Amino acid sequence: MDIDKTYINICLFSLKQILGTTFPNPPVFSILLESSKNFIENKIVSHGFTSISGRPHAEANVLNLFKPKKNKIYTLYSTLEPCCHVGREESCVSKIIKSKFIKRVVFCINDPDHRVNGKGKKMLIKNGIKVRSGLLKKKAIEAYKGYILNRKVSRPKVYLKLAVSMNGFISRKKNTRSMITNKIVNKYNHILRSEIDAILVGSNTLKIDNCFLTCRAQGLEKYSPIRVILNSKLDLDYNLNIFNHSKKYQTIIFTSSNDKSRYENFLKRKVQIKYISKSKYNLRNILKELSSIGVLNLIVEGGGETFSSFFKAKLFDEIYLYRGNCFFENKERYSFNFDKILNSSSLKLSSKLKKNFGNNTLEILHKNNKLVNI
Ligand SMILES: NC(=O)c1ccc[n+]([C@@H]2O[C@H](COP(=O)([O-])OP(=O)(O)OC[C@H]3O[C@@H](n4cnc5c(N)ncnc54)[C@H](OP(=O)(O)O)[C@@H]3O)[C@@H](O)[C@H]2O)c1
Repeated sequence: MDIDKTYINICLFSLKQILGTTFPNPPVFSILLESSKNFIENKIVSHGFTSISGRPHAEANVLNLFKPKKNKIYTLYSTLEPCCHVGREESCVSKIIKSKFIKRVVFCINDPDHRVNGKGKKMLIKNGIKVRSGLLKKKAIEAYKGYILNRKVSRPKVYLKLAVSMNGFISRKKNTRSMITNKIVNKYNHILRSEIDAILVGSNTLKIDNCFLTCRAQGLEKYSPIRVILNSKLDLDYNLNIFNHSKKYQTIIFTSSNDKSRYENFLKRKVQIKYISKSKYNLRNILKELSSIGVLNLIVEGGGETFSSFFKAKLFDEIYLYRGNCFFENKERYSFNFDKILNSSSLKLSSKLKKNFGNNTLEILHKNNKLVNI
């Protein structure tokens, strides 16, 4: 049995607990194993994860206040390579070296951030610490996909989340809001919102649905994502629900408008305006901007034009496709039908999961992405 794999698996499994809480840093989970000299007796004596808002790091939390025993061997397990760059605090590698009692470090993957990427590992080895890396690499790459995409291709991991009728429509009529999914799905979706960094919608969805875009799962409200709106003309009404809460929940509008009087009114409500000139106003640059502020995982929640443009530009990684127990007739020739888009596309998508929520279903479709080697 590979004991390292067992402990690293615990770390990876535990990452789930802190998804969405560590922005703008990636979530990391670490444990400290205390072993007898012959490695027959092993005990987890400390564990730690990246703190809320990203600092202190997991390894620092593991070592904090820990008192080692004599005649014991200590191994630090971590989901990601310990950092070695000096930021607001001393680096984790430096803390590990200074602790003097950690003899081995085991982690899944190199940190894709260019300031670390293999350098942390080298420093540990240079200081006499044994290192084993690359454990459960495939699983870890999947867990860190948003972080890897952010650092390697300057965009977050993008999820398209849609609710469609049995026959693929996202609303009963054009420019109306339709209830498609049941209460269980809605609850599940709010939990999902707590696990990601940002949520994006097109301006028309706000005008029609007047949505809040916050996480309203009980107890998780404080993990509401950053709310992002595409509104090139900057013509949204200040009185929309979303702007009543923008002092509490970070809200960003992307625009190519220069209308300073409208800027002022939004700024009063603490809404951030990100200006991109008309010629550069496109999804790729919007994602790049979000990536630069630390967004690793983004959910796109509509509407039709927005879904369709992300899909056509192939700027997504997974589709969360909920199907309600309703059938909409296409009386008004309202054309946004996601099934149609899926069926006419040559993109290869694989079905990752199918789940029932009462009489509704969820299918997660996965786009295969060649990730740059890390
Ligand atoms: N069932 C569901 O899952 C679901 C979810 C959400 C919404 N909906 C429904 O969808 C309908 C609204 O959809 P819609 O198609 O009318 O509008 P939409 O996608 O919500 O908004 C369209 C607007 O978003 C911005 N936008 C979209 N793609 C863009 C791109 N590639 N680059 C830059 N800006 C972009 C543009 O805003 P500017 O022109 O202001 O720049 C565009 O006019 C409503 O009926 C709503 O209820 C359904």
